[in-house]
Amino acid sequence: MPVEKAITSPPPPSSPTLPWRATSTVVMGMTAVISRAFLYGLNKTETIGLDRFLEILDARKDVQNRERGLITVSNHVSVVDDPLVWGVLPIRYALNPSNHRWSLGSYDICFTNKILSKFFTLGQVLPTHRSQHSSFGGLFQPTITQSIRLLSSPPFPKTYSAVPSSRPSTVSESTPLLADDPFSSGSLTYSTNGTDSFPAPSAYEANRHAWVHIFPEGRIHQHPKKSLRYFKWGISRLILESEPLPDIVPMFIDGNQDIMHESREFPRFLPRIGKNVRVAFGEKVDGEKVFGELRAKWKNLVQLQKEALIKKGALMDMEMGDLTEGLKHSKEAQALREEVTLRIRKEVLKVRASLGLPDEDPKQGLVETWIEEGPKRTGQMDDGSFVGET
Ligand SMILES: *[C@@H]1O[C@H](CO)[C@@H](O)[C@H](O)[C@H]1NC(C)=O
Repeated sequence: MPVEKAITSPPPPSSPTLPWRATSTVVMGMTAVISRAFLYGLNKTETIGLDRFLEILDARKDVQNRERGLITVSNHVSVVDDPLVWGVLPIRYALNPSNHRWSLGSYDICFTNKILSKFFTLGQVLPTHRSQHSSFGGLFQPTITQSIRLLSSPPFPKTYSAVPSSRPSTVSESTPLLADDPFSSGSLTYSTNGTDSFPAPSAYEANRHAWVHIFPEGRIHQHPKKSLRYFKWGISRLILESEPLPDIVPMFIDGNQDIMHESREFPRFLPRIGKNVRVAFGEKVDGEKVFGELRAKWKNLVQLQKEALIKKGALMDMEMGDLTEGLKHSKEAQALREEVTLRIRKEVLKVRASLGLPDEDPKQGLVETWIEEGPKRTGQMDDGSFVGET
């Protein structure tokens, strides 16, 4: 038995423990059964482009053969969108969680106590802080880093670009040098606020090139003309920084807003039935064509940052998803994120148009339009739309 080897450098396990995986499968499976029964038994549900999407999932069934991650991106019309929309997938897909979505769930709703936390974690939901509710929110929170890594492939080697002379040259490979890197190499947990602790799914080989779903509107938006809010920039980090560029499938959800309308009255917590739901899957985006040039510019920025830091003799110790201050806040970086976000929003609008909905007012895509919303954050807005808590 190679006991010594295990003591000196325990390799990270390739997948979570069997009981964990079994419980996760039960949670995912039960959720799918309930969602499917609700969509098809109590409501009328139509899918568009589902066969095409199932083909993509089928090709990804085997983790070892996966060559890239998968991003699905959609509008967000109700508190039940996730998990409800995944009820359109045949149940067998939920019984293979490694080929099912990871979703970003609100910390202040899904992770408020141990039981909820456990349930959502087993259901492949990642704890996400929203700036409005938490000082740990925003584009650079650890869960976005976690998502980038899930979409990519571990292990994530550290890159040492320069070591300042003041540091002993024998600095160990495993010494965490970047104070704000929540994932010290091989760690199976991470913290979203410095004191809590969550499993780090990206540490497992079995989760490589995973599927991440994102609602970039960041909150429920029920618009009378079914137009979209502006998209938040988190999606752009997933597209710019994941390696290789993941497959991207835009989606459009319609009808869930009637199941859980923000204006509904007592009993508010009960979903309504007998509604018409449509879930549309767009074609896979031609990622190279739409984002290739922007990703090349991003890589160039990263390179320039590294060279500048090397010149200054500043130590660079970055893993996938880590960013220097310059890469977080420079004008160039922000411009790239803005452009990626506009382009992915257009892809979702194409799916919306395929449902026969008239084009939205071009102003809808601009942040400025939404600043006019003023201090009122939820409820009915001046334009007739309803904005939800989540
Ligand atoms: C982090 O989250 C945990 C669990 O929600 C909470 O108990 C703790 O106070 C938070 N820490 C900080 C620094 O906010």
